[in-house]
Amino acid sequence: MTFDKQLSEETKWIEENIKDFLPKNATYQKTIQEAMEYSLMAGGKRLRPMIMWETYKMYGGKDKTVVLPFMAAIEMIHTYSLVHDDLPAMDNDEYRRGRKTTHIVYGEDMGILAGDALLNYAYETAALSLIDGGNIQAKAKAIQILSNKAGLFGMLGGQVVDVENTGKPLSEDMLTFIYSLKTGALIEAAFMTGATLAGAAVSNVEALEKVGKNIGMAFQIQDDILDITSTTEELGKPIHSDEKNDKFTYVSVYGMDRAVQAVKDYSEAALNILNNLPVHNIYLNTLVEKLIGRKK
Ligand code: IPE
Ligand code: IPE
Ligand code: MG
Ligand code: MG
Ligand code: MG
Repeated sequence: MTFDKQLSEETKWIEENIKDFLPKNATYQKTIQEAMEYSLMAGGKRLRPMIMWETYKMYGGKDKTVVLPFMAAIEMIHTYSLVHDDLPAMDNDEYRRGRKTTHIVYGEDMGILAGDALLNYAYETAALSLIDGGNIQAKAKAIQILSNKAGLFGMLGGQVVDVENTGKPLSEDMLTFIYSLKTGALIEAAFMTGATLAGAAVSNVEALEKVGKNIGMAFQIQDDILDITSTTEELGKPIHSDEKNDKFTYVSVYGMDRAVQAVKDYSEAALNILNNLPVHNIYLNTLVEKLIGRKK
């Protein structure tokens, strides 16, 4: 099968499975149930659950029922981060994943609550899988990794420093701190939880954390590039959002050429670590390579 065919089939498979984990029985609170589905099922690359799944398989994981709840959980956390990132108090953006943002459709109050609901439901989904049994130790570790990488020392921490420094010139150190947390941390979590759930050695999980960090850097710099070079139609979200918000980005600080080179360098560093692991997954390597020139 060609890479592109596998990518589209796998994306579809992930989407169908994630949908199954969404809540269904809300009554008076059904607006939020709808808003959760609206934001989660809007499309999106499903990169984090895909990385988790491919890493799980790379370490010999066979039982998809072990990893699926965690794939749903990480996509819920990622989606919550986007819903809140788009709010008027944050980046104030009106489009996401090719449609109106959640707060535009449901109102700002429900936008905030929908994000909270997704975050909470992510942990509820992961915790439920713990109760279901199996390798409890590995699942507990995966929940710990996921919560750590989503929180103060992960994505949320990166968003805090990003927002707090809006409009201020950033040192390279600060820029790296923001990118590796706001974007890198959840990608790290995807690699690390996939490996952990399959029983990989701690040394391998640590190497995969570095892989995720490098891909996260590349991914965010490419996101900054696309904010300038792409179109709203192709991207599914507004372009020039960074300029509108006075954000110093890798591109505005170092220029387009250096940014393009940095995407390649960080991706290459990630591939080098991947190639030195005791196990390999050609599809996963190709996915990392394809992200370098991604258009959306
Ligand atoms: C967008 O993430 C936010 C960043 C971390 C740059 P994605 O580009 O993975 O968004 P979706 O999930 O495909 O919509
Ligand atoms: C935010 O970065 C990454 C998140 C943790 C949501 P951006 O603000 O650049 O993400 P986009 O461009 O809105 O997707
Ligand atoms: Mg932002
Ligand atoms: Mg944004
Ligand atoms: Mg952006």
